[in-house]
Amino acid sequence: MFGGRKLAALFSFGILSSFALQVEPSQAEDALAERLDPKSNVLVIAHRGASGYRPEHTLAAYELAIDLGADFIEPDIVPSKDGALIARHENNISGTTDVAEHQEFTTRKCKKVIDGSIEEGWFTEDFTLAELKTLKAKERMPQIRQHNTIYDNRYEIPTLQEILDLVRKKEKQLNRKIGIYPEVKHPTYFASLSLSTEAKLLDTLQKNGYTDRNDPVFIQCFEPSTLQKLRSKTKLKLIQLIDESGQPYDWTATKDKRSSASMLTAEGLKEIAGYADGIGPNKNLIFPRAENGSIKAPSELVRAAHKAGLQVHPWTFRNENNFLPANLRSGDQKAADALTNYGDAIKEYELFYNAGVDGVFSESPDTAAEARK
Ligand code: G3P
Ligand code: CA
Repeated sequence: MFGGRKLAALFSFGILSSFALQVEPSQAEDALAERLDPKSNVLVIAHRGASGYRPEHTLAAYELAIDLGADFIEPDIVPSKDGALIARHENNISGTTDVAEHQEFTTRKCKKVIDGSIEEGWFTEDFTLAELKTLKAKERMPQIRQHNTIYDNRYEIPTLQEILDLVRKKEKQLNRKIGIYPEVKHPTYFASLSLSTEAKLLDTLQKNGYTDRNDPVFIQCFEPSTLQKLRSKTKLKLIQLIDESGQPYDWTATKDKRSSASMLTAEGLKEIAGYADGIGPNKNLIFPRAENGSIKAPSELVRAAHKAGLQVHPWTFRNENNFLPANLRSGDQKAADALTNYGDAIKEYELFYNAGVDGVFSESPDTAAEARK
């Protein structure tokens, strides 16, 4: 059975609209009962794919996420030197590829200032797509996810188009809709290099049939000005990402004094509702942590965002003790494997589902789906 949110999603995807008006009273009551269940049918968004089990942002990670029940897969988008859109969490690819082992690229190692921070390494904007395709992905956190390292050096960096092709293939294979949730990374920085990704992103989505508000797409970004510009160019749903401290870099670049916290006020949320369909907050903004790392009582953010008409999709949910609130960790915390062991991740999901969130960014989509049951 589908709950209220799932019903809404199916209407959005155009699946139920043809018989929406023929619901019998008993069915309607069932639907209402489910709609009143706050745990029902939260969207499971696979964060960088099933990155708890495979190196992130690879077709293997995305495909496994879909097979494990993810409703949406999340590619972070950065450009190559020749403007191709590829999936990497950051343009510095030192930590997630084998680029350091490629002697032909040794001289491209350099230092850059990205969003105000000095970084050293190899950067996507210095490589053509053909060159990037000679690299292989590797696990970002080998200390925590040693099991993922057996998949190092096996998978290419995928393009957005390859990810969309995978989505199409899996939709046919599994006979269900799969959503795509791209993030526009570092828009101010890439604009300064004349390598903006936004127009190409919309163009690629449009060529693949994604144009309408009801299509299974959310475009996310930390920088409000990017979303505001996108709002005037697309009907696709937009999500304002919000971190727990600092400010988005477009505000830094324009000397706007506001902090990210200003987005959390009633006024801030109302402003976001003027251009976006939801917020993607750091999960600590919903369940803050105490000084000892334990989870505290929930904030008013979910309620306030819903009041402003915004969906709420917090990030990032991971199974390992290292990422869990102190009171949900398992085992002896002094043991050598304390941080890599799984804690009570299901309990964490349940807390957020009961708090009324509309979706979760998860690196273990099977766990998120299990908790949703
Ligand atoms: O996009 C949701 C979340 O992924 C934002 O943080 O840094 O993991 O892309 P990040
Ligand atoms: Ca992201």
